[in-house]
Amino acid sequence: MACERNLTWHPTAHRDADTRRPLTLWFTGLSGSGKSTLAFALERRLLDAGIACCVLDGDNIRHGLCSDLGFDAQSRAENIRRVAEVARLMNDAGLVVMAAFISPYQRDREMARRIIGVERFREIHVSAPLAICEGRDPKGLYRKARAGMLSGFTGVDDPYESPREPEVALNTAEVALEECLERLLAQVRGEGGAS
Ligand code: ADX
Repeated sequence: MACERNLTWHPTAHRDADTRRPLTLWFTGLSGSGKSTLAFALERRLLDAGIACCVLDGDNIRHGLCSDLGFDAQSRAENIRRVAEVARLMNDAGLVVMAAFISPYQRDREMARRIIGVERFREIHVSAPLAICEGRDPKGLYRKARAGMLSGFTGVDDPYESPREPEVALNTAEVALEECLERLLAQVRGEGGAS
């Protein structure tokens, strides 16, 4: 593939070599909904089963690759774009990717699906009522947002657009961690119907 900027894409041999179809499980949901907990618990399971995988987590990625980005809509879109490009490369290298990002905008998640490829992308909506997410408040950020010390916080004074047709919907206030993991493992095994 050549482009107008005189760059040529070298295809990787991994694509043909891999027998397992690598996926990106894209966890979207409010802060405190359980995205990171699920992504890292799934990582443990997959590694125990000898399946190469990697978690890309919002808080971690914003320490490095995306440390220059804020939380306005344009920055969030750029955050998702970069992460989707990384996930695509990791999928090309044969890894299962768990991407855990609030990713509040439908259009940004659609962009991620396009970048990663529809056959590899699985949208996982991790939900819990806002009051429960606020009650968990693992980083104390809801408290700060309610106190007016943090503006533009998703769910408080910034929007969250729920997925319309996620491949998996997990309400972590109602479904136990173990059951959530079973549903996610089914996706990785290629048994995923809508759930
Ligand atoms: S996203 O909207 O661009 O997808 P991302 O998942 O990378 O967000 O980062 C979210 C994390 O950043 C939250 O878990 C929280 O710890 C922190 N954070 C800091 N400020 C905000 C904010 N204004 N809105 C949401 N999360 C914030």
